[in-house]
Amino acid sequence: MSQRPILVFDSGIGGLTVLRELRVAIPDRRFIYIADDAGFPYGDWEESALIERIVALFDGLIAEHRPQLAVIACNTASTLVLAHLRAAFDIPFVGTVPAIKPAAERSRSGLVSVLATPGTVKRDYTRGLITDFARDCEVNLVGSRRLAGLAEAHIRGERVGFDELETEISACFVQKEGRRTDIVVLACTHYPFLANTFRKIAPWPVDWLDPAEAIARHAAKVLPDIAPGLPEGFDRAVFTGGAPDYPTRRLMHGFGLSLGPGEGTASAWRALG
Ligand code: DGL
Repeated sequence: MSQRPILVFDSGIGGLTVLRELRVAIPDRRFIYIADDAGFPYGDWEESALIERIVALFDGLIAEHRPQLAVIACNTASTLVLAHLRAAFDIPFVGTVPAIKPAAERSRSGLVSVLATPGTVKRDYTRGLITDFARDCEVNLVGSRRLAGLAEAHIRGERVGFDELETEISACFVQKEGRRTDIVVLACTHYPFLANTFRKIAPWPVDWLDPAEAIARHAAKVLPDIAPGLPEGFDRAVFTGGAPDYPTRRLMHGFGLSLGPGEGTASAWRALG
């Protein structure tokens, strides 16, 4: 019997930053990466339409792949649809939500910024995290319309200028009464791909908080201890928009993800079912 896979879901390539840590935490599992590139970017979607889209997508994904767990590796989706997915389907879901609690615990200056999509910034869920866990901090929500797209362009090998990125992140840096921002939460899974550049262009050093490792550890706890069957076959990626472009295919290959039956051996693909 082939092992039931773990689905890792994002609007694009951002969820790869979570997949990387999942593979460290639970190396004995098989992963299917789902990129809803036909819906990308999620940041500006109207909330009820996005809920409807993602629940409908999961209807098909769960019937087709019979996953043992789904990781929603997207803040914009998790802060909106997790409750709906849990109510609709009988598998565990692990979400990715802004790491406001650890940021508030670690900040020395009490000035924390959350860099996210406009969708994540406006969610009640995000405001609730601030009220529940960051009462003693000043939390500055910074919504960027362009950064997820710039991260995709950067990873595809296109030139993304420092000035473009500076414009998007400058609002994260606050100085007040002798204190200054010391933590910026990367509250979109695309942004860790740009973190090295953020470090270069930041007006002063801050901790860029990426919650991927914590999410992976949580997923390991939620899973049953014993994986049923061997993780036979390839990890693979599925794009809702059909065949992705060449740089994106190369990126997927770099992450050890196959994109179609033509890329594996026939027996491995039979095992994938
Ligand atoms: N990667 C997604 C997140 O974590 C958002 C990207 C998008 O704008 O679709 O929020």
